[in-house]
Amino acid sequence: MKQIILTGDRPTGRLHVGHYVGSLKERVRLQNSGKFDEIYIMIADAQALTDNADNPEKVRQNILQVALDYLAVGIDPAKAHIFIQSMVPELTELSFYYMNLVTVSRLQRNPTVKAEIQQKNFETSIPVGFFTYPISQAADITAFRATTVPAGEDQMPMLEQCREIVHKFNAVYGETLTEPEILLPSNHACLRLPGIDGKAKMSKSLGNCIYLSDEPEDIKKKIMSMYTDPNHLRVQDPGKVEGNPVFTYLDAFSRPEHFAEFLPEYQNLDELKAHYQRGGLGDVKIKKFLNAVMQAELEPIRTRRKEWEQRLPEVVEILKEGSAVAEQTAAATLADVRKSMRIDYFTDNNLLKQQIVETKPPVPMRLCWVQAVFAWLQPLVDKIQAAIGGCQLENLL
Ligand code: TRP
Repeated sequence: MKQIILTGDRPTGRLHVGHYVGSLKERVRLQNSGKFDEIYIMIADAQALTDNADNPEKVRQNILQVALDYLAVGIDPAKAHIFIQSMVPELTELSFYYMNLVTVSRLQRNPTVKAEIQQKNFETSIPVGFFTYPISQAADITAFRATTVPAGEDQMPMLEQCREIVHKFNAVYGETLTEPEILLPSNHACLRLPGIDGKAKMSKSLGNCIYLSDEPEDIKKKIMSMYTDPNHLRVQDPGKVEGNPVFTYLDAFSRPEHFAEFLPEYQNLDELKAHYQRGGLGDVKIKKFLNAVMQAELEPIRTRRKEWEQRLPEVVEILKEGSAVAEQTAAATLADVRKSMRIDYFTDNNLLKQQIVETKPPVPMRLCWVQAVFAWLQPLVDKIQAAIGGCQLENLL
């Protein structure tokens, strides 16, 4: 079986380091592993509109920004098709058919949608499009016959729902769709990187993000202002590592070689953590180390982004080509889906034959027989009549 990747992001803002450790880094690793036959990376503008219907301009402005972020982290357009969701209208049609296989109560149970509804204060006025986006996401994934979806932990309920739709579709209409697997980052800290304020999630609306496109001074300022352990007031106080975002970021970003380079008094992160927990290690020192680590990681990304910023017409071409390939693939799957559902009327010759037979005036079977026998006997009957008419019995014999 072909190994195929599909994944994507909503273009509601530039991508941040949470996206990077949670999924982008993994995508680049997979892309370069040579283990995948096809890779599709989608800018999910249609999904972004499900909760930004009144602000399409925001979505529009971020299409190229997200594309630049992809190219900056190392997504290679020679290996991966980067495309725009709304340029592939087949996805909408697939969603419409899948909607018949999902109940309202099942959608209501999706924990990610539930949390988002609360977070956006949608409770009493949920747009239908937003409510059903897990279905559209199943269309995104299955249209490309994706086997692997590298994504963050918050996408787990989406994948679960997608697999249910695949099972249901295949059970009702026959084996057609491919079942995908989510691929989460193996490093626990990367599953959900907290904001610099220590809140559970990095999010644009909370203003607690470090963006991939941030300048070095901004990154430094953000790191030096990061929330730590609120009870770690003096350097000599013992500090807490769990729930301390500076350490979560170090878990996500630091490697042993960073210690040799920037903090040679410690061998590794465990030693640093132990010292912090014992007391005697100040926040400023660990923040400075984190800053050095993150600057090292983000510098090449920012540089590559700036190079691509000078070549925007090429970026648009990449999106155009990617979208054309994506549409072809999705159209082939849609044709299979229509065939399985037997709604492929113009390519299904049997439908016409069947209907012609059914619409002929019905002739009862018995009548047919009687008619045939009469037709066969007709010459004889003619002769009898002629003979009777002529009163010459011997003519009969
Ligand atoms: N829901 C994803 C996000 O919030 C974007 C997305 C849309 C996606 N369709 C997808 C991700 C399919 C993975 C697979 O950014």
